[in-house]
Amino acid sequence: MKTAVMAWLAPLGIGALCCAAAAGAASASERNGESAGMQANLSWLFPLNPPSDIERVMHPAAAVHLPNSSREFTEAQLTDFFFAPDWHPESHAPMPDIVRIGRAPRTFACGYCHLPRGEGRPENSTLAGLPAAYIVQQVADIKSGARRSAAHGIPFLPIDFMREVAVNAQPADVAAAAEYFAAQTLPPRVTVLQRQRIPKLRAKAWLYISDPSGGEEALGERLLEMAPDITRHERRDPDMSYIAFVPPGSVSRGRRIAQDGKHGAAEACVSCHGKRLQGVGLAPALAGRLPTYLLRQLVAFKTGDRAGPVGPTMQAVAAHLRLADMIALAAYAASQ
Ligand code: HEC
Ligand code: HEC
Repeated sequence: MKTAVMAWLAPLGIGALCCAAAAGAASASERNGESAGMQANLSWLFPLNPPSDIERVMHPAAAVHLPNSSREFTEAQLTDFFFAPDWHPESHAPMPDIVRIGRAPRTFACGYCHLPRGEGRPENSTLAGLPAAYIVQQVADIKSGARRSAAHGIPFLPIDFMREVAVNAQPADVAAAAEYFAAQTLPPRVTVLQRQRIPKLRAKAWLYISDPSGGEEALGERLLEMAPDITRHERRDPDMSYIAFVPPGSVSRGRRIAQDGKHGAAEACVSCHGKRLQGVGLAPALAGRLPTYLLRQLVAFKTGDRAGPVGPTMQAVAAHLRLADMIALAAYAASQ
């Protein structure tokens, strides 16, 4: 597999997907290889949580609030994998237990990571509105190993935790979660900005924040998604909109490929995912979803890491896409 990945990456001028264990501590521009002679790699697609940044719960019983909710949780609840903090219970049907509290001791609450309504966060995935059969199939593929991530050698823990969930979850729980998430609707969640230069970013909590030291950096051929307010992100605020920076021209380039295909209409994304990328059958919705996740999946189809029963369909599509195309497609879909 490593060889196949290298063979694909080489023509793109991209080195390896590996070797990023320390990447979280480096600034985004260092990782992009702006410094002379350093080969660029894709570790920017999997920002880590630098160990020095991991916040301990100092006051487990302390109350935590958000301005747009009258609810209150404790600091301990906000870091409990068996509890989904629900700031807006009125915005969705009652959660099944597997979504709300998981099933101790091994199956974390789906809603802790994917949020109670399935809005998702940049380090995981939107689930709201995906077909129930699709959700069940993906959990099965992750469990069987047919679906893996392209984060080779990068200790991107959220994906490892999802695998733990898939391996341990009982089928009836997965079915209940799938049916529940399929019935939810996805609110707007991300703003796509096309920029050559961006605020200097640093990795934190599995995504990006603006670097407290200020300054700017060149975006280059990357898609970087940031939380404009890290406190709201860490409090799992479902109303916060993320910002995704993409190179200028990405959205119109993405629209072109999505509508016309790169190698003919058969590969036009809209021919399977629907005219507005709203999803058709087992080809899931792409519109309005967090673009980091979409890009990770396109890369994984291309590298062959994501297979599964209908995976070959997308592998054939991704075979013709270069990194800039994938960034453009993720940007276009997210902006719909
Ligand atoms: C610890 C965090 C965490 C928990 C808890 C969790 N997930 Fe996930 N989930 C993730 C991450 C991260 C991904 C993205 C994986 C990737 O990038 O390949 C994901 C992806 C998925 C996907 C793929 C979505 C798609 O569009 O293909 C499904 C389906 C899913 N999760 C279902 C569930 C269900 C059902 C539960 C509860 C039983 C659950 N997850 C609990 C982190 C989590
Ligand atoms: C021939 C039909 C077909 C075409 C054309 C197609 N797709 Fe797909 N796509 C699928 C199917 C089916 C899946 C589900 C794959 C699976 O279950 O693993 C999928 C999955 C995906 C996913 C993963 C979504 C998720 O929730 O994890 C992304 C991203 C995606 N497609 C993007 C695209 C883009 C971008 C294009 C156009 C360049 C495209 N697709 C063209 C059928 C298609």
